Amino acid sequence: MEILVTGAAGYIGSHTMLELLNAGHRPIALDNYSNSSAESLKRVEKLTGKSFNIYECDILDRAGLEKIFKNHNIGAVIHFAGLKAVGESNDIPLKYYLNNVSGSVILFEVMQKFNCKKLVFSSSATIYGDNASPFVESMPTGNVTNPYGRTKFIIEEILFDLFKSDNSWSIALLRYFNPIGAHESGQIGEDPSGIPNNLMPYISQVAVGKREHVNVFGGDYTTHDGTGVRDYIHVTDLALGHLSAIDFVEKNQGIEAINLGTGNGYSVFDAIKAMEKASGKKIAYKVAPRREGDLGEVYANPAKALNLLKFKTSRGIEKMCEDAWAWQSQNPDGYKS
Ligand code: NAD
Ligand code: WQD
Repeated sequence: MEILVTGAAGYIGSHTMLELLNAGHRPIALDNYSNSSAESLKRVEKLTGKSFNIYECDILDRAGLEKIFKNHNIGAVIHFAGLKAVGESNDIPLKYYLNNVSGSVILFEVMQKFNCKKLVFSSSATIYGDNASPFVESMPTGNVTNPYGRTKFIIEEILFDLFKSDNSWSIALLRYFNPIGAHESGQIGEDPSGIPNNLMPYISQVAVGKREHVNVFGGDYTTHDGTGVRDYIHVTDLALGHLSAIDFVEKNQGIEAINLGTGNGYSVFDAIKAMEKASGKKIAYKVAPRREGDLGEVYANPAKALNLLKFKTSRGIEKMCEDAWAWQSQNPDGYKS
């Protein structure tokens, strides 16, 4: 059985491709490179010593997708492809709804046409909105503050409806917390274009000397040191969670939403300290006002992943920062380096 991986050249996609190949799976990569470069997949081939089919294709291109399904015996899809910049989604919401929601609907229709009904979908903890942490899968979802997050909520709802109409589907909705770090080789990692929106790439760029200081968004939250707390998960652990999810959808029919997080919360100051230790560099920061839409504290209840997928993370914040530093220091300008 072959596994189609949409968004395979991206940050999480490339790490998942690598783990799939190492575990002996046969993944096929699809990406339109709107937020990535072909170099990540070349490095995956080098690191694994294995080659695989790569399609430059947009999930909005129905004919392109159908051609891939005709050429291969695709048994399951891991669907990463999507736009993910929260701020940009406020400015150009229709781009997000078209790309993420319409693109997903086209992909699901093509899957249905080719009787491929096993799916692992990249959802997000953002759909829990302002529930109190730890977030558990039974909590209400949908109270999201931006169009990006709403696309994830809408796609989940579409998939619940799809399953209701045809319960021969097997669907895992993986709700990621905050993926950070890189493959331990330092050869693949997160490569944001322009000024990073997310904390860890920003901290890494300060450590490597590309930016002056970190703006700490809010020092007055009711957390242990006043700064925002998140559940950071090593991207390799996250990738391995997808292997467990593929195993699960192969063996079980149904639809399940499952958190992928560690269950531990770290503050912005904790993250800065951990990166200072990993890099040996002093990281300057300034406390700035809170960022609109941010929550004080977000972390997972990871019990369902353990029960259903037998999946547990094993890499702590130190390893996340060590590997992020290996990537950042060897590739100060990302894949362009
Ligand atoms: P990424 O931007 O690095 O990867 C997404 C990939 O999808 C990119 O390579 C991009 O070129 C591709 N893509 C986008 N639109 C496409 C289209 N129409 N057709 C084909 N390819 C397309 O992002 P990532 O961090 O690897 O995230 C992967 C998925 O996980 C996304 O759906 C994202 O929303 C979700 N997610 C990410 C995070 C996070 O913090 N990184 C958290 C929760 C959920
Ligand atoms: C983490 C913490 C910030 C930048 C976002 C998306 C979410 C999901 C993951 C996809 C917060 C603080 C940040 C900075 C800071 N993506 N911070 N200075 O906001 O938890 O989640 O990425 O689904 O949808 O919203 O992640 O890394 O941006 O922020 O102080 O320059 O770091 O306030 O407490 P966030 P983040």
